[in-house]
Amino acid sequence: MSSKLIAPSMLAADFGNLQRDTEMVNNSDADWFHIDVMDGHFVPNISYGMPVIAAIKKHATKPLDVHLMIEKPERYIEEFAKVGADIITVHHESTVHLHRTLTQIEDAGCKAGVVLNLTTPISVLEDILPKCYMVLLMSINPGFGGQKFEDMTYNRVKKLRKMITDQGLNTRIEIDGGVTDKNIQKLVEAGADVFVAGSHVFKSDNQTETIKQLKALANS
Ligand code: DX5
Ligand code: ZN
Repeated sequence: MSSKLIAPSMLAADFGNLQRDTEMVNNSDADWFHIDVMDGHFVPNISYGMPVIAAIKKHATKPLDVHLMIEKPERYIEEFAKVGADIITVHHESTVHLHRTLTQIEDAGCKAGVVLNLTTPISVLEDILPKCYMVLLMSINPGFGGQKFEDMTYNRVKKLRKMITDQGLNTRIEIDGGVTDKNIQKLVEAGADVFVAGSHVFKSDNQTETIKQLKALANS
């Protein structure tokens, strides 16, 4: 398996110091920027959109992993690609024609991924899996940072890793929500390989060191 990746969630960054926090991620062991877009409909919260992503892109030296928590994401794929998304993930629960939406993401020049909410069965991915660069499994109810990791995630990761292996694929599994130094290794054992971390990184005293520690734990 390729190396395990860390994607700090910019939702937990200091928006008044976005350039500083972007550069912190640039100069750390992190691999991607995780960018959470919320519309106040699909999830109860509203975060940020294209202008903020463009501002991060201006300084970022690592790929932008854009997680769309919006209804009918197919309306905005080209715009997110234009402001610098490298990977775009859409919720299975948010788009009626998932295959078409993933094709739209690919046609816009980005890598395409699917996100599942906590209770959406893994089995819905069976036919779409070969088209996914990555699957993101939510380990919280989406909408807010700083929530408690749900233990049901471990079994879901195992189920999904088995499905990926059975199909002869090497799809990445990303985990989002409540990831810390306490659960990252157990998630690796279950078969996950990309880890979003918001509060655990940005609320720590030494953010660079926290990222370094997560990266080391995931790859040990
Ligand atoms: C929540 C977002 C997450 C969030 C994770 O809906 O998708 O990316 O920023 O934050 P933490 O790591 O604090 O749970
Ligand atoms: Zn996210």
